[in-house]
Amino acid sequence: MKALEAYNLKKTYRQSNQIVEAVKNVSLSIFPGEVLAFLGPNGAGKTTSIKMMAGLIQPDAGSIRIAGSDPHRNPAALQKMGAVLEGNRNVYWRLTPEENLEYFGVLKGLSHREARKSGIALLERFGLLH
Ligand SMILES: Nc1ncnc2c1ncn2[C@@H]1O[C@H](COP(=O)(O)OP(=O)(O)OP(=O)(O)O)[C@@H](O)[C@H]1O
Ligand SMILES: [Mg+2]
Repeated sequence: MKALEAYNLKKTYRQSNQIVEAVKNVSLSIFPGEVLAFLGPNGAGKTTSIKMMAGLIQPDAGSIRIAGSDPHRNPAALQKMGAVLEGNRNVYWRLTPEENLEYFGVLKGLSHREARKSGIALLERFGLLH
């Protein structure tokens, strides 16, 4: 099964008399274990697409499946999704990397012990532990 599938996502913003087509027909599929880089110029609609896939904003059209389930109809699907949106303020600067991973692990429903263990395992896996 696909880990993530988006089909023909669309989002248009209207501000006073201006219409911004933020996302026009974005489709993608990600299979388990696959890494996908989603690139485009500033204002291309990357963040808006990811926000729709993460259930944060409603698409005007199109569909999303996270492991086969529509996050906009079934919010439990979002338990399988983690998102750190771009920008340099998404981690807590006063916390260590271990503490940040522990914090976000607990937010995702792990126990403190599991979160700490998996945070250290991730830092080790990506060569960042030292
Ligand atoms: N809430 C909003 N209201 C109005 N316009 C918006 C809103 N969010 C995004 N836009 C507009 O939609 C377009 C796509 O924006 P988006 O932030 O998705 O692009 P991006 O690819 O993430 O850009 P960047 O590389 O700068 O992060 C831009 O023209 C942006 O100004
Ligand atoms: Mg962006």
